[in-house]
Amino acid sequence: MPAKTPVLAPSILSADFTRLGEQVFACEQAGADWIHVDVMDSHFVPNLTFGPLILQACRRATTLPLDVHLMIEKPEAMLEAFAGAGASRLTVHVETCPHLHRTLEQIRELGVLPGVTLNPSTPAVALKEILPLVDLVLVMTVNPGFGGQKFIEASLGKIAEIRQMLDSIGSTAWLEVDGGVSAETLPRLREAGADAFVAGNSVFTHRNGIHAGVAALRELLV
Ligand code: DX5
Ligand code: ZN
Repeated sequence: MPAKTPVLAPSILSADFTRLGEQVFACEQAGADWIHVDVMDSHFVPNLTFGPLILQACRRATTLPLDVHLMIEKPEAMLEAFAGAGASRLTVHVETCPHLHRTLEQIRELGVLPGVTLNPSTPAVALKEILPLVDLVLVMTVNPGFGGQKFIEASLGKIAEIRQMLDSIGSTAWLEVDGGVSAETLPRLREAGADAFVAGNSVFTHRNGIHAGVAALRELLV
C-alpha cells in the first residue's frame, strides 16, 4: 500500500482563547494540516471545554479540516450539531459507545469522516470489528482530559499493533496519536506506524511561538 504523507494537527486545547481565531490561522500559515478540537464534558473526562459554537468559530478562522475529538458521554446525541458546525472528522471513544457500529454509520450519514479512539487502558482488540468502517483510528498516548501530560511509553506497542491490524485488512485509515507529542516522541511514534500527529503544548507553548512550534514538528514528518 502506498504510504500516505503524514499530517500534523495542532490541538487548540493549548491555545490562548482570547486570540483563538488568530492562533488557528497562524497554525494554517505555519503549515499545519488539520486543526484538532478537543470536546470534553466533565463526565467522561475530568475537564470541560467547549461545544459546537467554538467549532463554528474555528470554521470561520481557517480552511483546514477540523478534526474533532469527542470526549463526551452519549456522543450520538451531539453528532448532528458538530457536523452542522463544520466538523470534517468526528472521532468517538470506544468507551462511550455501546452501539459503536451504529454511531460510526451515523457520522458517515452526516457527511463527516468517522474516527474511533481508545484510552490507554483499552486494548487494541476492542477495535477489531469496526476497523473497516473508520477513516481514522486515534490512539490516546495520555489519559484524555488535559494538555501537557507525560507521554505513555507503552502506547508505542499498541500503535504498532493497530498499524498491523489496519494493514492486514488493507485499510487506508489514518493512524493518529494524541498526547505528549513532541520533537522527542514524534520520530518514535512515526516509526511505530502513526501517520497523523496531534500536538497541543509543543505547538502553542513553543518558546519561539506557533510558527516555530509547527515548523519543529513538521520537519520531522518524513
Ligand atoms: C487530551 C487531548 C489532547 C491534548 C494534547 O485529552 O485529547 O488533544 O490537547 O495535548 P499535548 O499535546 O499538550 O499533550
Ligand atoms: Zn485530542
